Amino acid sequence: MFYIGIDLGTSAVKLLLMDSDGKILNIVSKEYPLFFPHPGWSEQKPEDWYEQSIEGLKELTKDIDKSKVAGISFGGQMHGLVILDKDDNVIRPAILWNDGRTTEECDYLNNVIGKDKLSEYTANISFTGFTAPKVLWVKNKEPENFAKIAKIMLPKDYLAYKLTGVHCTDVSDASGMLLFDVKNRTWSKEMCEICSVKPEWLAKIFESYEKVGTLLPDVAKELGFPETTIVAAGAGDNAAAAVGTGTVGDGRCNISLGTSGTIFISSKKFGVDSFNALHSFAHADGTYHLMGCMLSAASCNKWWMDDIIGTKDYAAEQKAIEKLGENHVYFLPYLMGERSPLNDPFARGTFTGLTMDTTRADMTQAVLEGVAFALRDSFEVAKSLGIKIERTKICGGGAKSPLWKKMIANILNIKVDVIESEEGPSMGGAMLAAVAAGEYSSVEEIADKFVKVVDTVEPEPELVAKYEERYKQFKEIYPALKPVFAKLK
Ligand code: XUL
Repeated sequence: MFYIGIDLGTSAVKLLLMDSDGKILNIVSKEYPLFFPHPGWSEQKPEDWYEQSIEGLKELTKDIDKSKVAGISFGGQMHGLVILDKDDNVIRPAILWNDGRTTEECDYLNNVIGKDKLSEYTANISFTGFTAPKVLWVKNKEPENFAKIAKIMLPKDYLAYKLTGVHCTDVSDASGMLLFDVKNRTWSKEMCEICSVKPEWLAKIFESYEKVGTLLPDVAKELGFPETTIVAAGAGDNAAAAVGTGTVGDGRCNISLGTSGTIFISSKKFGVDSFNALHSFAHADGTYHLMGCMLSAASCNKWWMDDIIGTKDYAAEQKAIEKLGENHVYFLPYLMGERSPLNDPFARGTFTGLTMDTTRADMTQAVLEGVAFALRDSFEVAKSLGIKIERTKICGGGAKSPLWKKMIANILNIKVDVIESEEGPSMGGAMLAAVAAGEYSSVEEIADKFVKVVDTVEPEPELVAKYEERYKQFKEIYPALKPVFAKLK
C-alpha cells in the first residue's frame, strides 16, 4: 500500500510518497506566495495551499497504481489563523506563525490576564505568532471580519477539512493555539472565554496518528484515489518532523533548520518551562515535548544568498569558508523579530564587527554561525531545566549543508546524528498515516523500524573551546542593542 505525507510549509508544500516499508517513491514540491503587507506581518492564502496540494498530489502519484493509496496525513506550519464564514468561505488571508502584529494583544494576555494564569490554563504564555492573540487582533482591528467567523482552524487542518469535510485538529498543533489545555489534551474553556472564542468555532481534537475520516467522493474522483483512502489528523510540522527523524519517546532531541529553526525535546512526562521560554506542547506519539523556536533560520541564509549576494550556489559560498571558530563578524538572525528565548518581536537582524578586511565568506560564515548561536540560546534554557542532551537528529533544508551541521555540533557541543532521509515533516506525515491505517501499532514502532542513522558529526574539543569564547561575545550583542531595537519600532 502507499502512504502520502503533506508538509504544508511556509515557502512551499512538500509531498512525499512511500510504501508500507518506508521506501520513499517520490517527492514533489509546489510553491505559493508569501505576503508581507506591513513590516513584521506575514500572510498566505489558504486557497493557494489547497490548490497547490491538489496539483502536488496529482504529480506525486502520476506513475503509480492509485488504487493502492491507503492513507494521507500532514505536517503543517503551526499557529496560523484560518477563519471561515458560515458558508465555509475563507474570510481573510491566514495570519502566519512568524507574524508579529499582535504585540498589544500579547501584552494584554501576558500582563493583564497574566502569565501565571495562561501557563495554568495552557502550559504556555502568549507569543505574537500564537493563534489566540491573532483571534483577539481580528476582534480588535477587523470587527467586521470577526462578526463573520463560524470556524477557526490551523493551516494543515484547512487541508484536512477540504479533503474530508471533517473540522478536525490534532493535539500537537492545537497546543500552539494558546486555547488548548496541553496537559489534559483538550480545549481550555477559560482561554476560549478570555479570547471570545465560541465553542462551536473549534475543531474536534484527535491524536496525530488517528483517522479523522476518508476522502470526500468528489476529491477522491479528482485525484483518482479510492474513496476509502483514510486521512489521519497529522501534526504540527515540528512534531511531524520529530516523528520523521525518530525523535519519539523520552529524552530525544531534533533540530530543524527550515524557515524557522527549532530544537525539539521529546518527553513521556508533561512539564512546563518555568522561564516560559520553551513551549510545552503535546507530541504526535501520544506524549509531550518542549520546544524552542527561532523565527528565521535557514531563511537567514536564503535571504543572504538569494536576495543580497544574488546566488543560488550555496555550496560554493560555503566552500570559501576556511577558519571555523575564528570569525570576527557576528550576525543576529532576528530578521522577523525573535520568539525563543527572547520573545521580542522588535528584535532585528544585524552584522557586527565589520572591518575593511571583512570578506564575503566571513559574512556568510557569520550568518550560519549566528543561527547556530541563537539555537544554542534555547539549548541553554533546556540545560538550565536539568535536561541532559548529548546528541540530536537534524532535518530541514539547512541540514543538507555539512558545514552547518559541523557548526551546530561544535557550537552546541553535541553529537549530530545524520539520518538516511532528512525529509522530516513529510516523512512524519506519511508515517502517521500508516499508523492510522493500522499498518503499525504505534508511532514508536514505526519510527524504530524506519529511521536509520547513517553518520554522526562529533564535536571537536579544540573547536568547541573556540566557539565557547565566541558564543560568550555573541550573547552580549542582543542585550546591548535591545534598547535601540525598541526605538526603531
Ligand atoms: C513552531 C513554529 C514554526 C512553524 C514553521 O512553533 O512556529 O516552527 O511551525 O512552520
